[in-house]
Amino acid sequence: MINDKKVLFSGMQATGNLTLGNYLGALQNWVKLADEYECFYSVVDMHSITVRQDPATLRKRARSLLILYIAAGLDPEKACIYFQSHVSAHAELAWILDCYTYMGEMNRMTQFKDKSAKHADNINVGLFAYPVLMAADILLYQTDLVPVGIDQMQHLEITRDIANRFNNIYGQTFTIPEAYIGKVGAKIMSLQDPTKKMSKSDENPNASIYLMDDPDTIRRKFKRAVTDSEGCIAYRDEQAGLKNLIDIYAACTGKTPDTIVSEFSGLGYGQLKEAVGEAVVDKLSPLQQRCAELEKDKSYIDGIIKNNAEKASYYAAKTLRKVQRKVGFPDRIR
Ligand code: TRP
Repeated sequence: MINDKKVLFSGMQATGNLTLGNYLGALQNWVKLADEYECFYSVVDMHSITVRQDPATLRKRARSLLILYIAAGLDPEKACIYFQSHVSAHAELAWILDCYTYMGEMNRMTQFKDKSAKHADNINVGLFAYPVLMAADILLYQTDLVPVGIDQMQHLEITRDIANRFNNIYGQTFTIPEAYIGKVGAKIMSLQDPTKKMSKSDENPNASIYLMDDPDTIRRKFKRAVTDSEGCIAYRDEQAGLKNLIDIYAACTGKTPDTIVSEFSGLGYGQLKEAVGEAVVDKLSPLQQRCAELEKDKSYIDGIIKNNAEKASYYAAKTLRKVQRKVGFPDRIR
């Protein structure tokens, strides 16, 4: 607990172009959670270098992602928005936790298997140890809740295993975090293959709406979105493309799927696609504008980066010192 509030931690990588899925599925919920919980939202740049990055691009994208957090409505005075690499405790705790994590359990991580297949020429130790760094992220802040997508559940499980193991050896040290499963966790699917999640790494640019897409591009992508040949507007699993369009419309407008189905009953898919496209344009245009304005305000953003890194370091150091003491590192001399 910090200030009588439960602690919530989450992170996002600045690699690839963020999509509407990242926004509606994650960021928009982060904003809602920020009033109720003490939130730490990190730009996890240390995770990003597990695959090769162009340094200038990574630096620029990391900053833009931090700005996007603010543009999306997070108050940087309340939620701690910071770069993972600015808080050295992440690396230090990750090393210690590496020594309490077994090769065998890491070998089971499905994301490691997927990513090694994808980057066969660069299967580095960091990629393998990625979940331990994620565990360090979470455990450093005595986190109660972690809003994550289904693809990160296995990493959260291993975080809990590592924390329990450490607590069993050394006594109560870490809070055991739980997944926060959102009530309306909009899961946004690819516009070209609605059985797949909308992904920033999709090779087909028409499959994803990027947050910085201009209005015409957005409208065009929705026009081309894959639907079905049933010809009837309904909200059901068998019409996955349509269901996805309705979910997007619902997440943008706050309407329920039922309301949307009755709103469009008797109309064609084309009309629904057009409406969804407009709703997304209306949602993203102000966001893009706020990002552009904040990008220009260098000293304001720099101030946030500095203050929040200090705030995160303060809380992280408390846990790290406790852990260092428990494993037997000599006390610091002040
Ligand atoms: N691995 C997460 C992802 O790719 C990002 C992440 C890093 C994270 N550290 C975290 C998410 C801690 C939640 C908590 O989506």
